[in-house]
Amino acid sequence: MNKPSDVKIYEYDAVIVGSGLAGLAAAKELTEAGKKTAVITKLHPLRSHSGAAQGGINAALGDEDSTELHEFDTVKGSDYLADQDCVELMCSKAPETIRWAERMGCVFSRDEEGDIAIRPFGGQSKPRACYAKDRTGLALLQAIYEQAFRAGVEIFDEWYAADLIYKDGKVSGVAAYDIRNSEPAIFNAKVTMFATGGHGRAYRFNSNAHANTGDSLSIVARHGLPLEDMEFVQFHPSGLGGSGVLISEAARGEGGRLFNSEGERFMSKYAPNAMELASRDVVSRAIMEEVRQGKGVGKDGQSVNIDLTHLDPEIILTRLPELRELAIAFQGQDMLKEPIHISATAHYSMGGIPTNINCQVRKSPTELVEGFYAAGECSCVSVHGANRLGANSVLEALLFGRHAGENMVKTLDEGIELRKANVSDADTMLAEMDKLKSSNGSESVPKLREELQIGMTADAGVFRTKESLERQIKLIDKLLKRFKNIRIDDKSKTFNTDLQEAIELGHMLEFSKFIVVGALNREESRGGHYREDFPTRDDEKFLKHTYAYMDKDFNISLEWGDVVLGKFEPKERTY
Ligand code: FUM
Repeated sequence: MNKPSDVKIYEYDAVIVGSGLAGLAAAKELTEAGKKTAVITKLHPLRSHSGAAQGGINAALGDEDSTELHEFDTVKGSDYLADQDCVELMCSKAPETIRWAERMGCVFSRDEEGDIAIRPFGGQSKPRACYAKDRTGLALLQAIYEQAFRAGVEIFDEWYAADLIYKDGKVSGVAAYDIRNSEPAIFNAKVTMFATGGHGRAYRFNSNAHANTGDSLSIVARHGLPLEDMEFVQFHPSGLGGSGVLISEAARGEGGRLFNSEGERFMSKYAPNAMELASRDVVSRAIMEEVRQGKGVGKDGQSVNIDLTHLDPEIILTRLPELRELAIAFQGQDMLKEPIHISATAHYSMGGIPTNINCQVRKSPTELVEGFYAAGECSCVSVHGANRLGANSVLEALLFGRHAGENMVKTLDEGIELRKANVSDADTMLAEMDKLKSSNGSESVPKLREELQIGMTADAGVFRTKESLERQIKLIDKLLKRFKNIRIDDKSKTFNTDLQEAIELGHMLEFSKFIVVGALNREESRGGHYREDFPTRDDEKFLKHTYAYMDKDFNISLEWGDVVLGKFEPKERTY
């Protein structure tokens, strides 16, 4: 058991939790500006989930493209819930961001003229996804990691950030422990940033890394701070059937076609113009609808076919090599020779920790927290609204990560004070560790997690109803009670993954409740949130952001925040 006297206190100008593209881009800016910066990550930076992004990063580089068209597609894709000032910032700075990433060392694929190659993605009127084969995220992550490392960022890898130090409207760092030996520390900072990525592991079928357990969301919520638009979860149309492992939208961008068990190219019924390149929410629902009608393929009939056999094999071998390997490894299906089985998989969260356009965290729709920033998937700035376009997330992470870094530098230069930490700032974290480690009950953490994931996929997934959502809230409430009776067998201090998984499950149960309560409250269908009992969008009542707050007994209360509208008037979406 750790005592408060074991707590070491580190002091920094800036502390960043998370080492994907957003966290590293911010850290690089800060360090190059001479700010003492620490990055805390429960992984190694190169294992961050940004590295799993396959298909591309958007920028209007094509001759017939424009940043305004990119903005329009993003706002339309978002089902008009995105904040248009933030979308304008993102799309107008996208081309410069690509050039910057290239200068940092990212090796993009090239077209025949030697320019950065671009490919079509869903919901976009022009090809604009710049790519590095089908390993775009990895190419970017390696380049930005090298540059952040060269700049001198201090990286605390395999450290678990377990609590935020938040008092009187101001954040002054985090409490964390070293996963190697459970030694606790306070990272005291003038400015703090969360860039912890997504939370797709709450679902049974998902494309996310094991680490994507959404810890920072409930860490923030436990302090009474809000989460925004959590009901909007993106289901990617192409996860490998049965596992959910990502088969990039690049497969459809390069010409892949979807067929049901009757050999029908069914997208003609759902999106007659865009077909397979409609936005992700539309294609995912179409796939699941075909499955529901008994036209699925595979052993359990829960998948559809994606067929690339009509393509020149060179396209697959040179532009989609990893996808081919994944389908062979997981399903024994070679896309050069036969269609492969895919199904909708939980992929991305549009909602998260609310921020303003400068990535400063909000404590209500109209007030900010001092010294606290967020960027990337854990945040909601909100550029994706109710549905994100493929290849806009890597862009968002990189661009807003850098932007957050620049804004933190400004705040530091303006002279924000360090509120000195005290060892007692680690009390909540130490109490949580001790309580969980001494749990000798009868419930198993993996079993509770599996029950949560199965329920989320069945009842808060692609299709939702009042009944399914109420059932899932009841399940989460029961799981929260059963969580108090878990058993942790490993009592050691060394790489105690039992303890870490228990802490993570606590977070998953809590933020999942935000998803389901938000979905129940939003009696309309918009983007990734589809209510079968309210199948149309209702702008009059719901063209608003959800702000949700949790009390000590896990009750969630809600209020609305304004959407920043702009030059694109809400219209009915057709593809
Ligand atoms: O399909 C993909 O390659 C995923 C890209 C994204 O989510 O942006």
